[in-house]
Amino acid sequence: MAIPVEHVPVMLDRVLAHLDPRPGRAADGAPRVYVDATTGLGGHAEAILVQSGPDGRLIGIDRDPAALEAARARLAKFGERCRLVHGDFADLPAILERQGVTAIDGLLADLGLSSAQLADADRGFALQLNGPLDMRMDPTRPGTAADLLDTLGEERLAEALGRLGGERYGLRVARVLLRRRREGRLRTTLDLREAVHAALGRGRAGRVDAATRTFQALRILVNREQEALQALLAAFPRLLRPGGRAVVLSFHSGEDRLVKQAFRELARDTSPVPMRLLTRRPERPGRVEVRANPRARSVRLRAVERIGEAT
Ligand SMILES: C[S@@+](CC[C@H](N)C(=O)[O-])C[C@H]1O[C@@H](n2cnc3c(N)ncnc32)[C@H](O)[C@@H]1O
Repeated sequence: MAIPVEHVPVMLDRVLAHLDPRPGRAADGAPRVYVDATTGLGGHAEAILVQSGPDGRLIGIDRDPAALEAARARLAKFGERCRLVHGDFADLPAILERQGVTAIDGLLADLGLSSAQLADADRGFALQLNGPLDMRMDPTRPGTAADLLDTLGEERLAEALGRLGGERYGLRVARVLLRRRREGRLRTTLDLREAVHAALGRGRAGRVDAATRTFQALRILVNREQEALQALLAAFPRLLRPGGRAVVLSFHSGEDRLVKQAFRELARDTSPVPMRLLTRRPERPGRVEVRANPRARSVRLRAVERIGEAT
């Protein structure tokens, strides 16, 4: 089954309203710089470049070389204003240093998978498409989902399925997966889905597929997504100029919890880098957007603004 590639980026109007990309120069005379930490197909990046034209700069990061290729074609018209970098946003300070950038005016992170990654069976992300047990966002790095199944013990796998996927029956699923893997019966995404169904039953018709939680947990583990998000949340405050803003779109409760906690800490009086919350509660998309773009269904948007100077 082909999944349509999204054309309209998620919550675009709200992202732009909070990020507030602008043309012109910062107070220190440097050109304004925006970072799209998850460039994907370049939809948000394009809008940021349009709104900050004619002189705003954008550094677009993605750990997936195929995503960057797609974005490169879309963003070529902005010439020198846009630089695309292959890398993990966990390394944001080093990436910016290599670009000669010491301060930024805005940061966007639209977490998770792009629709292009989901639609490509060979990447192994989609439970409806048969593909290898890969799930790496960056295929230049080692460590596939299959490698994980070969190295994680039953207890660690069960714990991860619960913590990262919200799977209540983690141990039951882990047992079946590891047994089938040992028997050579768990090699593809459809094998994985089948194994979860064997452990739990298919789930009721019309409900979310019972294997969704297992796919999510394995993907998060393979890509060390929680670690990367924590590193980004720890690093960005000192990189933002006063008045600079950060916007994060998260797609499951584990991600949103990390963002909520980090932003709340930054908004406390004791924060070494003072920030103001732009969203007290997470913003959600409207019904019309969810109908048009199913990926928007679970999104939560949070935003902060840096105030004053770092101490
Ligand atoms: C939801 S898509 C972004 C879509 C994009 N906003 C657009 O408008 O097309 C998320 C992208 O973030 C990338 N990504 C996820 N985690 C990352 C990380 N730690 N470092 C760099 N890129 C990451 C994925 O490879 C994917 O291409």
